[in-house]
Amino acid sequence: MESDGTKSSAQQRLKGKVAIITGGARGIGAAAVKLFALNGAHVIVADVLDELGINLANSIGGRYIHCDVSKEADMESAVKLALAWKGHLDVIYNNAGTSGADGSITNINMDEVKNIVAVNLYGVVHGIKHAARAMIEGQRGGSIICTSSSAAIMGGLASHAYTMSKGAVMSMIKSAACELGAHGIRVNCISPHGVPTDMLIGGYRRFLGDIAAEEVSKLSAKSCSLLSGRGGTTEDVAAAALFLATEEAGFITGHNLVIDGGYTQASTSMTHMYLDQKLVK
Ligand SMILES: NC(=O)c1ccc[n+]([C@@H]2O[C@H](COP(=O)([O-])OP(=O)(O)OC[C@H]3O[C@@H](n4cnc5c(N)ncnc54)[C@H](O)[C@@H]3O)[C@@H](O)[C@H]2O)c1
Repeated sequence: MESDGTKSSAQQRLKGKVAIITGGARGIGAAAVKLFALNGAHVIVADVLDELGINLANSIGGRYIHCDVSKEADMESAVKLALAWKGHLDVIYNNAGTSGADGSITNINMDEVKNIVAVNLYGVVHGIKHAARAMIEGQRGGSIICTSSSAAIMGGLASHAYTMSKGAVMSMIKSAACELGAHGIRVNCISPHGVPTDMLIGGYRRFLGDIAAEEVSKLSAKSCSLLSGRGGTTEDVAAAALFLATEEAGFITGHNLVIDGGYTQASTSMTHMYLDQKLVK
């Protein structure tokens, strides 16, 4: 496959498909919006950052809708827009998310916790609910992709509230996959790690002060077992979402696709065990 971003037919992996990407105005979502469009999808950007979202949607010939995923009616409107625009919905990527509620469990601010759960978990549930209704009605199957996190696999990577919300997403997709498989609808999630977006950089800055994006990337890459010298990028995650959206992933459901350079599954702390002493200089 070509990798120079040209619209070759080989890259039209979502030709004619209709996709909603929540949180699509920036970061990982924006990278997915561009990649899905490049692959022939009709994309709706659903976000609360109107200016960014409108500009991006216009640049790819898509649609923008102001959609606060924590509000069920907003999510329902986004799905209705897809149906009004193209008559069906094939893919929803529930990517919108937020962080915060930092600090000790003994001082946890319940209003902040509720906000995180409302966006990261209930936002995903709203997306699954309304996309599934449209997909079942459309009788074309579909792909529902949700966003969990490396923080749901290991403790200690994010605030308690964020960790909890992302853990629940991982359970939710398995449960929904069981029901929706009967309709040919696949439900999966993606767990990124350490991608230097506004969210992650903002998180680092809350603790470390003014730190450059490149530094955040380096810090995130530090404990990955892929010692390629780079951390994860928005494009790495978008590529995983594209895969799950296409029929190439047609037999994959209830799965958590981890995009972390091995961070959560392959510790480097004991790799000396594997070193061939004869080869060590
Ligand atoms: N960056 C990472 O390292 C990382 C790691 C694991 C998981 N994630 C997850 O990936 C997803 C994308 O995050 P990102 O890193 O691109 O961050 P980001 O802050 O750059 O993007 C998040 C997007 O979600 C939107 N959003 C926030 N609240 C919303 C709401 N209520 N309704 C609609 N849109 C809303 C924001 O406006 C923004 O466009 C999130 O779910 C995040 O938790 C990110």
